[in-house]
Amino acid sequence: MKKRPTITAKEYAMRREQLMHMMGEQAIAIVPSASMKIRNRDAEYGFRQDSSFLYLTGFNEPEAVAVFIAGRAEGEYILFCQESDPKIEQWTGRRAGMEGAVEIYGADDAFPITDIDDILPSLMEERRAVYYDMGNNADFDQQVMGWVNSLKAKVRNGIHAPHEFVSLPLLVDDMRLYKSAAELRAMRFSAKTAIAAHQQAMRVCQPNIMECALEAEYLHTFKQQGMDPAYTTIVGGGENACILHYVNNDKPLKDGDLVLIDAGAEYLGYASDITRTFPVNGVFSEAQAQLYQIVLDAQKAAIAMAKPGNTWEQPHNAAVKVLVEGLVDIGLLEGEVEQLIEDEAYRPYYMHKTGHWLGLDVHDVGDYKVDDCWRLLEAGMTLTVEPGLYISPADDVDKKWWNIGIRIEDDVVITKEGNEVLTAGLVKEISEIEALMRQAV
Ligand code: GLY
Ligand code: MN
Ligand code: MN
Repeated sequence: MKKRPTITAKEYAMRREQLMHMMGEQAIAIVPSASMKIRNRDAEYGFRQDSSFLYLTGFNEPEAVAVFIAGRAEGEYILFCQESDPKIEQWTGRRAGMEGAVEIYGADDAFPITDIDDILPSLMEERRAVYYDMGNNADFDQQVMGWVNSLKAKVRNGIHAPHEFVSLPLLVDDMRLYKSAAELRAMRFSAKTAIAAHQQAMRVCQPNIMECALEAEYLHTFKQQGMDPAYTTIVGGGENACILHYVNNDKPLKDGDLVLIDAGAEYLGYASDITRTFPVNGVFSEAQAQLYQIVLDAQKAAIAMAKPGNTWEQPHNAAVKVLVEGLVDIGLLEGEVEQLIEDEAYRPYYMHKTGHWLGLDVHDVGDYKVDDCWRLLEAGMTLTVEPGLYISPADDVDKKWWNIGIRIEDDVVITKEGNEVLTAGLVKEISEIEALMRQAV
């Protein structure tokens, strides 16, 4: 297999260093991993690591807690994790154990997770502030409170318990918002795989194929690269394309309908998130082409506004303007464009925002507003641009538009000069889509 992008141990170490630098001395951060979740009785869901835990450790096992203690002479990074145990590992898979935690993952020290109640309170002693993501995991919240209270109970022995709780996401989410060169390489690789899957779906699509049969093409392409879907794949034909989070994917695709597919892969935890909409029979009807071109023009206008110095809202506003102008042109809206925008008259046809941050979470972390103002876009921020139009049947809507749902979604990183579309390799012009769909499989 060709060499694949990686995130080096050094980069994970630099992230921890940056976090501890921002926390300052006298602070401790506590970051739990995700846990296994039961799907039914003894069968579990596939494990997905907590994104911030993964960002800071690269450690992809459940039942672990990372602790960062800025300035601690005996070691700043402690990892509590599951012990190596050949008997258990024969059933549930290999573990890094204490040794791997130190040697592979760069922990200064590692302890069995079963010993955390005995060890962690003493690491919190004399620390002023605890950085922690409170409210995310009720059981773990209780455990953290228990550790603090156990220290408070010892104040008469001269022990100081931390007296300040600070939101860990306040620091980590902002770090995660700016993607490094290595993160972008991972995201390009994820995008490349998702692009190949979309191309394959366009080639095999034909009338009467099941929505789930197209979904299978994505799973096949992703798994060939050792990847999973970054989120549940949406394959919606005709009226199903107008249901934003349609995931049943259990209907046959009809001749003459459009199919909307929203699918992305996950590589090293990093998501791609791509939507394409194309005709089931390979040729857009006139009405479909008219609406499609409006969405495509809106998407291009939005991408053009995704550049440093513009606000988060500017790409969205650019998309809305083109969508409303188009809807007026074809008679789906009547009135002055500015007024229709102010009144949000487009919302029956376009009811979502034009994008979101993208990264380790599909809807990635990071504030969209700072001090009540839309955030300025900066190099390294990565977002989706995904306008759409969804026309449900209604008395005041000409029948020729009914059940046409269209979304076009690309992944964009802001660069110093403007932007790079990570998913630019995937066709989206009407003529390009029709040409690709003519290719035999
Ligand atoms: N695939 C989820 C989204 O587009 O937001
Ligand atoms: Mn999206
Ligand atoms: Mn999407």
